[in-house]
Amino acid sequence: MDIFDKCYNFTDAEEVKEMGIYPYFRAISSGQDTEVMVDGKKMIMIGSNNYLGLTSHPKVKEATLEAVKKYGSGCSGSRFLNGTLDIHEELERRLAEFMRKEAAQVFSTGFLTNLGTISTLVNRKDHVIIDRSDHASIVDACRLSFGNVIKFKHNDMSDLKRVLSSCENKAGKLIVVDGVFSMEGDIANLPEIVSLAKQNNARVMVDDAHAIGVLGEHGRGTAEYFKLEDGVDIVMGTFSKSFASIGGFIASSERVINYIKHFSRALIFSASPPPAAVAACLAALDIIKSEPERRERLWEITRRMHKEFKALGFNIGNSQTPIIPIYIGDDIKTFQFWKMLSDEGIFTNPIISPAVSPGSQLLRTSYTATHTDEQLDKVLEVFKKVGKKMGVI
Ligand SMILES: Cc1ncc(COP(=O)(O)O)c(C=O)c1O
Repeated sequence: MDIFDKCYNFTDAEEVKEMGIYPYFRAISSGQDTEVMVDGKKMIMIGSNNYLGLTSHPKVKEATLEAVKKYGSGCSGSRFLNGTLDIHEELERRLAEFMRKEAAQVFSTGFLTNLGTISTLVNRKDHVIIDRSDHASIVDACRLSFGNVIKFKHNDMSDLKRVLSSCENKAGKLIVVDGVFSMEGDIANLPEIVSLAKQNNARVMVDDAHAIGVLGEHGRGTAEYFKLEDGVDIVMGTFSKSFASIGGFIASSERVINYIKHFSRALIFSASPPPAAVAACLAALDIIKSEPERRERLWEITRRMHKEFKALGFNIGNSQTPIIPIYIGDDIKTFQFWKMLSDEGIFTNPIISPAVSPGSQLLRTSYTATHTDEQLDKVLEVFKKVGKKMGVI
């Protein structure tokens, strides 16, 4: 048997390409904004995680240019050795202060942040307890850890309770949940999770990739939204969404961060984030703090789109955030729906298994504070037309 057999036998992508409905790896020839250029055609982007619209903010762009002038293009090493710049440390100080935690640690991507945190903390004999819908990086981090991995039903607190009571009393326990679930757009039941963690002597880590900058009065995420900041032991965030850059971080106690700094292989054996990316994060953090009107506008848009999609008859599941899934329930139908939207100039993301469970295939739509009302009118008009044609509404 040839190790490459699986590659030669994988023909699904070609088959979908032949049908003219292959939706992945589309090249965009403009900035990531509310309108993008694809194949020379302007499209309204409702598939981005650029929640606050900061990718095109003049201060963010200027900060990246200045950083390249001062520091050059890359760090040529890991944070542990030659790759720590003063701006990495400044970002960590300011993130810790913003998140109201003792310390913060920056990683090169959000994915690596989860890998490098969970796999380092969860050792043999420990239990890591995760929501079935947690992000792939959490699942992979658990695979990398040597601990006992237990999943509970999505946001189901009686199942979490059952799982916790099945864990050995004396073992170390870490509960890891997405604050905002990246495909479903619903919010973790943090009040129950924190209370169950306390009762069972477990620690809580929240992946707030989609919540920082978005949820909470000041944009500090899910814990701020629920006024439970002291109940969460580790908050994880990415820079690829509201921060309009790339990288990730955790914020926690000084002792936890110090341990991660010295034992996390994803941190120690991988190069540090480049100066331009770090400078963009610093500028974005300033804007998250100083321009709350962006968050307010994002929520105004979110409320409108929830209401209007529901009124049209679409199934948006339990979405509570600017991530609004449109459930279709079948791979090919999802691709066909996507293609018709695309032909009408609307950029969405079709999501099929394994990113969601079979039967829950969906079009993931997500919104940006800088979307105009006219753009949203157009989105709704096209969805209505395509939804009727496809028999979805
Ligand atoms: C919930 C969640 N966690 C982690 C990540 C990984 O972050 P990044 O894409 O910045 O590496 C993502 C991004 O897809 C995410 O949605």
